[in-house]
Amino acid sequence: KAPGSLAGRRVLVTSGPTHEPIDPVRYLANRSSGRQGHAIAAAAAAAGAAVTLVSGPVSIPDPVGVSVVRVETAREMLAAVEAALPADLAVFAAAVADFRPAEARAAKIKKDGSGPPPLALTENPDILATVAGLTAGRPRLVVGFAAETDTVIDYARAKIARKGCDLIVANDVSPEGGVMGGASNTVHLVARDGSVETWPTLDKDEVARRLVAHFARTLCAP
Ligand code: C5P
Repeated sequence: KAPGSLAGRRVLVTSGPTHEPIDPVRYLANRSSGRQGHAIAAAAAAAGAAVTLVSGPVSIPDPVGVSVVRVETAREMLAAVEAALPADLAVFAAAVADFRPAEARAAKIKKDGSGPPPLALTENPDILATVAGLTAGRPRLVVGFAAETDTVIDYARAKIARKGCDLIVANDVSPEGGVMGGASNTVHLVARDGSVETWPTLDKDEVARRLVAHFARTLCAP
C-alpha cells in the first residue's frame, strides 16, 4: 500500500453541531459549521477509503464519494456511529452538545406573563469516549478534536487520557482566531505520549489532506 493511501480501509467521521430540542420549534446548538469534519471525510475518500460521514445539521454540501448519515441530536449521532462500525479509523470532529434539555417539551413554550421557564439540562453521551472505550470492535485509530479558547495543549493532553483516544487534534477557537465557520485552521496534534506537533495555519482542506496522510501512515505502522 502506498504511503498516504487509505485503500481498503473503512473510515468513520463525525462532523457538524448537534441540535438539542427544547420544544418543537427551539433547540440548543453551537457555531460549528462542519467544514473541517466534512473536509476530512472528503480527503479520506480521495485517499481511497470507504467513508461514512455522520453529520449534524449543516448548511454545506455533502462531500463527494462519501456515504452521509444525517442526524440532529447527540443521541442520534451515537446510534448512527454505532451502526456505522466497524471501522479502521474513526475521527470525531463533530461539536457535540455536552448537555441537552432534560425534557423536550411536546408543545411550544409560551410567554404567559409568569416569567422565563426554567431550563434543566442533562448530560449527553460522550460518543468519542464510548467508541474509544469499546473492548470489542474498537477502531485501530480513534481521533478526537479539542476546540478550546485557552491553554489548548494542556487541555488536549488531559482530554486524551480522559477519553481514551489515540490522538487529539487541538485548535484554538477564540473568537479572534475565526476558526468556527472560517476557512483556515491552526492545529496541534497531541499524541498519547504527550508529544505535540504544531502545524502552520492552513486552509481546512489542506489540514484535512495532511491529517489523512498522517492517519494513513499511523495505520501502516506495525
Ligand atoms: O469534551 P469535549 O467536548 O471538549 O471533547 C471534544 C471531542 O469529543 C471531540 O472529538 C468531539 O467530537 C467529541 N465528543 C463526542 N461526544 C460528546 C462530546 C464530545 O464525541 N458528547
